[in-house]
Amino acid sequence: MAVASLDLVVPVIAAPMAGGPSTPALVAAVAEAGGMGFLAAGYRDADQVAAQIRAVRGLTARPFGVNVFVPGDPALGPAALGPAALGPAALDRYAARLEPVAARLGVKPGQPRWDDDDYRAKLALLTADPVPVVSFTFGAPAGQDVARLRQAGSLVMITVTSVSEAAAAVDAGADALCVQGAEAGAHQGSFRDDPAGRPGAAATPLLPLLHQIRATAAVPLVAAGGLMSGADIATVLAAGAGAAVLGTAFLCCPEAGTSDTHRRALLSGDYTGTGFTRAFTGRTARGLVNAFVREHGEYAPAGYPWVHHLTRPIRAAAAEQGDADALHLWAGEGWRRIRQLPAADLVATLAP
Ligand SMILES: Cc1cc2nc3c(=O)[nH]c(=O)nc-3n(C[C@H](O)[C@H](O)[C@H](O)COP(=O)(O)O)c2cc1C
Repeated sequence: MAVASLDLVVPVIAAPMAGGPSTPALVAAVAEAGGMGFLAAGYRDADQVAAQIRAVRGLTARPFGVNVFVPGDPALGPAALGPAALGPAALDRYAARLEPVAARLGVKPGQPRWDDDDYRAKLALLTADPVPVVSFTFGAPAGQDVARLRQAGSLVMITVTSVSEAAAAVDAGADALCVQGAEAGAHQGSFRDDPAGRPGAAATPLLPLLHQIRATAAVPLVAAGGLMSGADIATVLAAGAGAAVLGTAFLCCPEAGTSDTHRRALLSGDYTGTGFTRAFTGRTARGLVNAFVREHGEYAPAGYPWVHHLTRPIRAAAAEQGDADALHLWAGEGWRRIRQLPAADLVATLAP
């Protein structure tokens, strides 16, 4: 499928947002408004993704996408991650550090473990029952998997955060790249989160990154990171992007599945900024700087998904109990400009 066949009336893509915010209702509302939305397959099993795909199809006939996390190498776990990770003992120490916050919320830290996020089953689902766009984050899938998805009729997009990742994604057969800048909310989609570097040390702001990748990669690009308005979108279109990808801007739409705790924090005026941290998942991500980030960020081992599973019960309880101090409050740099609008109205205001 060619990018042009996506038939975007408005060059706005609602980013995949795993952990709840992306819902079939949000995806369908953005699609019906002339943009395109992504379901987030991350943290769900293939059956749950299949159910969400059915739900979108029941709401709209317009194109939509599904985003899949590429699993890392289990051999690159905390035992092998080098000085910044300090091996499995670092996980034990981090778990011990989190005991008090877990106890305050009435839970225990989770069991740190590796998993592949049901990757093969998701690929099998998407190959057997294709959707218009499949995007990948945290790596480039194997070329043969990309070929199978394209053969099935899907457009394949890969998130990249550097020129070298863009080259690898094109080599793997990507039809298009999602260029994600340092301003972006939640995880950097980098293929590797170098444990030797501070969180975000390698992240490049969107516009320079877009210019660099445009000069080297001969496939269509979409741009993500800190975009909140029609004027922001016009800037990335002028820099060569075919469409703009917005996550944070959609977090407070009524159709989003964002937790009330997260929404309230975003709108509260209580926070002074966002920052990169590995505190919640062991992988670099941008969120509002809260007590959890301040107290634990510098002690978090660079081990995803081990740390993700370790903190999961804490984060679930924090969301449930309205405790924004212990929750991952993912947000991009543009968070102060979030608007509480139905998704269709937001898309209308975003037309550049
Ligand atoms: C709450 C949240 C969850 C996210 N989850 C995913 C995800 O599952 N997959 C992915 O590729 N990107 C994810 N992202 C990143 C977005 O795809 C996108 O790069 C980012 O939202 C763009 O920056 P912005 O938030 O400033 O608009 C997430 C972003 C947010 C805010």
